[in-house]
Formats: sequence, structure tokens, C-alpha cells
Amino acid sequence: MSLAPLHGIRACVFDAYGTLFDVAAAARACGHELGEKSSALSSLWREKQLQYTWLRALQGRHADFWQVTGEALDFALDTLQISRTGLRERLLNLYLTLGAFPEVPDTLARLRRAGMRTAILSNGSPHMLKAAVEGAQITHLLDAVLSVEEVGIYKPHPRVYQLAVERLALEAGAIAFQSSNAWDAWAASAFGMRVVWCNRYDQRPERLPGKPDREIRSLAELPALLGLN
Ligand code: LAC
Repeated sequence: MSLAPLHGIRACVFDAYGTLFDVAAAARACGHELGEKSSALSSLWREKQLQYTWLRALQGRHADFWQVTGEALDFALDTLQISRTGLRERLLNLYLTLGAFPEVPDTLARLRRAGMRTAILSNGSPHMLKAAVEGAQITHLLDAVLSVEEVGIYKPHPRVYQLAVERLALEAGAIAFQSSNAWDAWAASAFGMRVVWCNRYDQRPERLPGKPDREIRSLAELPALLGLN
């Protein structure tokens, strides 16, 4: 994939979970209780959480991401036969304070200094996103925090990406969308945004409509890709 700078970008929009915030941190923080099941729990919880968003979207039965995240956790704990008093609540509460990947604050600050607008576009419910953004101390580095709750359906429905276009009052082609969730990156590209796939997890390319414009490993590479210093 090309490394040439992307031109004509006016705003950088970021996916939240997995891209800005480390979703594996919750299970890691309970590692002493989960033992050898820690990484299985983390993967199954995330996998099921995403599946439930897609299934609910198809069924036309939306429930917010806090509910879906809790139900996915119940499924994962049940499957792995983990039952410890209070563990469900501890894991769920940790999801509110996941912490940002290390390069996130500096990257956002560099983008803002260069005059770029910045926003989050996420499945997360407003209270989850507010908690995560405040916990990571990046509130002042974001122009907007957009939740799918405003449109009542999950990614990758095009209405979600349209929300960013409308709220930022920019054409899709003037927005660089960053996601570490490959399916989200592909969908934003199919919608018409310029897309930088932050491939933190060394995933293979999706076989879906769309194609990211650039691929990076860490968001620290983003300002240079946009021709900023
Ligand atoms: C989000 C999910 C996809 O933040 O991670 O929208």
C-alpha cells in the first residue's frame, strides 16, 4: 500500500475501541482472577460483542453498546465456565476506563496543532465514550465525540459514517477515518471516506467492499501520512 501523503483532508475521525482504547486492558487487569483463561475471555468477549452489534442491526433490534457489552461478557463467562463473585461487574466497570494506546494523546495534539479537526465515531454509548475520553484525558483534543446512539444502528451501516459527514459538515472525501478494526476500515472506505487502517493486530485484508487508502501500525505514523509535522 502507498505511503504517499493523503491530500485534501480536513478532519481526522477515529474509531474508539481497539483503535484509541485498548479493549484487552479489562481482562488484563483481572488477569490474577482469570489465570490462563484471560486471553480466551478477552477474545471471546470482543468477538461476541461485535457479533451482537451486527446481529441486532440485521434484526432491527437495537440495544446500546453498554447492554451488548454486558451480554457478550455473560456469554463469554458462561462459555469458559468462569464464575467468581463480582467479576462480571469488575470487568464491565474496567471497560469504562480502558486507557488509550500510548501514542494517542501526542498524535491528537499534533493533528490539532496543525489545524486538523478531530473526532471519534464509535459504537460506544455516550456514557461509555465520555468515561473513556475523560479517563484518557483527551477531552480537550477532540472536536466531537459521535456515538451510533444518534442514529440507532451499529457500524457498518452507512448511516453511521454519514453521521460524521453531517456533524463535521464536510464531504466524505475530506475526512480521514482511522480504525484498527479492519471491517470498519473497509466499510468507511466503501462509504467514501479516505481511510487509514491502523493495523495494530497484524490482521489480513478483508474481502469486503472498500479498500483503505493507507496502512499503518501505530497512530504515531498518521501526522506524517497527512503531510503534517
Ligand atoms: C467502535 C467499535 C467498532 O468503537 O470498536 O465503534
